[in-house]
Amino acid sequence: MKAYLYDRLMSTIERRKLHQVRKLLLSSIGGRVVEFGAGTGVNFALYSEEAEVTAIEPDNTLREEALKKIGERRISLIDASAEELPFEDDTFDHVVITLALCTIPDPSRAIGEAKRVCRRGGTLLILEHIRNENKLLALLQDILTPPWKIFAIGCHLNRDTLSLIEENSFERISLNYFFGRNFVWGSYRNIK
Ligand SMILES: C[S@@+](CC[C@H](N)C(=O)[O-])C[C@H]1O[C@@H](n2cnc3c(N)ncnc32)[C@H](O)[C@@H]1O
Repeated sequence: MKAYLYDRLMSTIERRKLHQVRKLLLSSIGGRVVEFGAGTGVNFALYSEEAEVTAIEPDNTLREEALKKIGERRISLIDASAEELPFEDDTFDHVVITLALCTIPDPSRAIGEAKRVCRRGGTLLILEHIRNENKLLALLQDILTPPWKIFAIGCHLNRDTLSLIEENSFERISLNYFFGRNFVWGSYRNIK
């Protein structure tokens, strides 16, 4: 995906809502942080000085763009996939995943890796779009996902991301729904 195109496509929704949500989610966390699927590095400027961030991004073009946003920040960026992380167990205090669980090919394995590399009692912070609770709207998401996936480079509109997280020993701390309960941001405690 061309980084320029991604940032352009997202600019309106970022300005309207996502930037504010990202800020609420990320600006007060400190300690060792791993971010999955950092894309063009849209979150980088929002981390505090107290956060030591390791970001992973498997797409070369997006990674190059994200590199430019690091500057003097305590952020390292590596080429890796969320399903197979090159980190020891319990390495991080926080795992950050924003708008990536919809795209990661095997989200179940990625959540398993999140649980493994995050210490017990650490947190998983998410911003995601989710499967609609309304059965008819969820069916519509199922129908739209195949064409949408082609347009939106692998993004699944219909993934039941919250169930996936909650079935994997993450305990809900807080969740905030927006855009008609199609999006959510919040945090979970790792109770592995
Ligand atoms: C929709 S973009 C979101 C980018 C950014 N996190 C954000 O909040 O805007 C999805 C990201 O997931 C990344 N991705 C896809 N497969 C992945 C995988 N197996 N492991 C980690 N990231 C992956 C993509 O390269 C892309 O950067």
